[in-house]
Amino acid sequence: RMRIIVDADPGIDDALALYYLRDRPDVEIAAIGTVHGNVPVEQATANALRLTERLGLDVPVATGAAKPLAQPLMTAEDVHGADGLGGYAGDEPTTSPTGQSAAEQLADLARRNPGELSLLAIGPLTNVALALQIEPRLPRLLDKVVVMGGALNVPGNITSHAEANFWHDPEAADLVLAAGFEDLTIVGLDVTMQCHAPAEWLEALPGDCYPRRILGFYADFYGSFLGKRGFVPHDPLAAAVLLEPDLATYHEDRFAIELTGRYTRGKIVADQRFLAPDSPFGRDIATERTKAKYAVTARTDVFLDQLRRAVAQ
Ligand code: BDR
Ligand code: CA
Repeated sequence: RMRIIVDADPGIDDALALYYLRDRPDVEIAAIGTVHGNVPVEQATANALRLTERLGLDVPVATGAAKPLAQPLMTAEDVHGADGLGGYAGDEPTTSPTGQSAAEQLADLARRNPGELSLLAIGPLTNVALALQIEPRLPRLLDKVVVMGGALNVPGNITSHAEANFWHDPEAADLVLAAGFEDLTIVGLDVTMQCHAPAEWLEALPGDCYPRRILGFYADFYGSFLGKRGFVPHDPLAAAVLLEPDLATYHEDRFAIELTGRYTRGKIVADQRFLAPDSPFGRDIATERTKAKYAVTARTDVFLDQLRRAVAQ
């Protein structure tokens, strides 16, 4: 069984990622950390607790960073609803978060289980950046790391060039991409936007299932964003890629986050030029960056079938 720490900002598609993981017999969710992003962190934590209660998951939930490293807090209620779960967050949770911060939890668990835990980061990367300060050996202590974020060769979704998770904390994302993680995969919009679930997919779910209820708001947003009905399951696709890397194909490269661009702050960049061996030019995004795999295609049909099974229960 793969043991996974989930770092998330629930968030409608974050909720679907938890459904996806819960459905997999080959997975143990070891812990959840929450982070600002789609909603303020207090709301993200309450939602994570509500979801673990609803899903019957006995998993520690730690509250994470309330704001980005170097910019003011910005949230995305237009996409996920004022409560982050499309208006259906419901009652206050009956369970409570642990006393630790999400960054401490991540550093601690990694130290106590060297090489045994994988990380699925589906919100802004503030907690992961803070955990690197607490435990600089983190890149060698974790097994696989899958990050949902980035728009490399496609438009952004929150600005013209930036994807939301990286834009919510560009400095944190840049630190993570430079940190030396040995097995790092990035699942960005280049591949998630190929996995659009059409309105019929949604309508085929049982009318009373919770995912269908929370997806109403998200589908309305995507209808207005893309001009077609349906939605994009970014975070569950990242979960699927962690468990089944063969669901996607990848471009391996070294990546950075643009921090100072006038229109491009928060955008992921790579030096994708062809450079002949005798080229006078050097690579400008180069050796100090960790090599990572960036997903470029995915087996959409297989994944959407898996997701349907996971959420329809
Ligand atoms: C990402 O941003 C959030 O809105 C989603 O939960 C996902 O993690 C997609 O850009
Ligand atoms: Ca998310």
